[in-house]
Amino acid sequence: MCGIVGYIGPRDAYAVLINGLKRLEYRGYDSAGIALVNSKTRIYKCRGKVSDLEKYITGNDVSGNIGMGHTRWATHGEPNDINAHPHKSFHGKFVLIHNGIIENYARLKETLSETGIKFQSETDSEVLVNLIEHIYEQGNTSAEIAVRLALSKVIGAYGLVIACIDEPDKLIAARKGSPLVIGVGNNEYFLASDATPIIEYTKSVIYLNDDDVAIISKEGLVLKTLKNDPQTPRIHQLDLGIGEIDKGGYKHFMLKEIFEQPRSILDTFRGRVGADFNELHLGGLYNVIDRLVKARRIIIIGCGTSWHAGLVGEYLFEDLARISVEVEYASEFRYRHPIIEPDDVVIAISQSGETADTLAAVKLAKECGALVLGICNVVGSSIPRETDAGVYTHAGPEIGVASTKAFTAQVTVLAMMAILIGRKNNTLTDVQYRSYIKSLTEVPGKIEQILAQDDKYKNIASLYKLANNFLYLGRGYLFPVALEGALKLKEISYIHAEGYPAAEMKHGPIALIDHKMPVVVLATKDSSYEKIISNIQEVKARNGIVIAVVNEGETTIKNMADHVLEIPVTDNIFSPLLAVIPLQLVSYHIAVMRGCNVDQPRNLAKSVTVE
Ligand code: M6R
Repeated sequence: MCGIVGYIGPRDAYAVLINGLKRLEYRGYDSAGIALVNSKTRIYKCRGKVSDLEKYITGNDVSGNIGMGHTRWATHGEPNDINAHPHKSFHGKFVLIHNGIIENYARLKETLSETGIKFQSETDSEVLVNLIEHIYEQGNTSAEIAVRLALSKVIGAYGLVIACIDEPDKLIAARKGSPLVIGVGNNEYFLASDATPIIEYTKSVIYLNDDDVAIISKEGLVLKTLKNDPQTPRIHQLDLGIGEIDKGGYKHFMLKEIFEQPRSILDTFRGRVGADFNELHLGGLYNVIDRLVKARRIIIIGCGTSWHAGLVGEYLFEDLARISVEVEYASEFRYRHPIIEPDDVVIAISQSGETADTLAAVKLAKECGALVLGICNVVGSSIPRETDAGVYTHAGPEIGVASTKAFTAQVTVLAMMAILIGRKNNTLTDVQYRSYIKSLTEVPGKIEQILAQDDKYKNIASLYKLANNFLYLGRGYLFPVALEGALKLKEISYIHAEGYPAAEMKHGPIALIDHKMPVVVLATKDSSYEKIISNIQEVKARNGIVIAVVNEGETTIKNMADHVLEIPVTDNIFSPLLAVIPLQLVSYHIAVMRGCNVDQPRNLAKSVTVE
């Protein structure tokens, strides 16, 4: 995915655009560019990060009040200066920034090439800007009509901003499949892939829908569909403060987000937990609760960390509500002709609410008649708008590419849902219901205690920062945490790591164990505690290094393991919320010690809005 930003109004556009790109850089960071639009349109773009672009631009003319900017995550064409956006059309009439993929670009490129158009870049986006120019010139028409006609010929996804030099007081924006938000100020408009670049200027925003086209000038905004049907813009008020999108004194967003978890989970509870723990209110499910309680089966879909949260959800729904659950990678689910019945409930989990595979899986499940719910963090994003109902996690913006507080917020929502359904379908007694609610509300305080031991995690990191491999083992509720721990480590430190159900170790991974292999064993007290002790012994017998996450006061494992990391005791069903914190911090410190770019790991982007 890429980040796009646009501005039109009385301000110095360059300042708005460059600040906006810094806010959006988490979406892609292999190249960046800016265009200042007027009768003498200037485009500056280069490979590298936004800071490289800033250096590159220094000393150049950046005057003007209208412009657009882009930070790229490469899909078509390697990251280089030429493939960077904005892209200009062959005859120089149009300038465009684009987030998404034009799937039929090869065929369009061939047809356009036959008319004599020469392409500079390898990108699909340059094909689109040329298609628009071609239609504009052939049809002798307006920029807006050319954009609408061109987009109706395009297969794929786009969030885009385009300017035409013949109409230099205007920006045209359009969306299909890739997010686009318009900020509405006083005689000024801001465009961005999400609200973070907009929040410091205005809280009034319009979320574009698929097939919307916005024609924006200083005088006003006209919203219509691709087919030219007028739309009434709905203005939403953002509930987001500027402090929430800054690093707040931390060295990295990831560290800030790890330390925010006690507060972000409290925000997930806010307004949902009755004062004396006798009630849970999930307003977003109010209209669908009967269908949910009667569900024959729950199918949970997601990708990456959200999929791991879904695995925890499987244990929760099966234990607390006795509903059968399947957890699927959205990317597999959507392509394997799944059997979905009308009395199934599909729950899509996504921090960003924009992950392409999850969004497509949601659409498929809806077509099959299932009730489709969302558990998302970004308010107003595509998945919550596509689903029948859902619950926002309200964890606040997550900027670090490695997901941390989103995971704990997702698990918190899943726990609340499972407790609520379990009570409604009488799987849980009232006493159990209240006891679980109370125990869940104690989690933030317990996370504070874990965070206070950060020096221990730093110490483990310093001992094993040079390891080439890590193994993570867990059973039951802690198996998904083992997967999540391994994902955190590999994505930010580039150390190969694997998560396994502890009992599976004997079926293969045990062959990897030697004196150089750190094995993180999640070994809190539960019904399989004795078995995990056996697993630890098996690792030690092969000279592996055991780093065990145990409950406070534990002594048996302390005598066996090389290191123990203690976490407070909680109900087993909430143990993922605590056990994941040391793993997040150990990964973070290892990545920092290895000199990795923690917030922007190589090859990754915050959300994957392409297949
Ligand atoms: O925004 P989503 O939750 O849908 O994103 C899903 C994954 O792309 C995401 O969790 C990814 O795996 C993270 N880099 C994990 O830290």
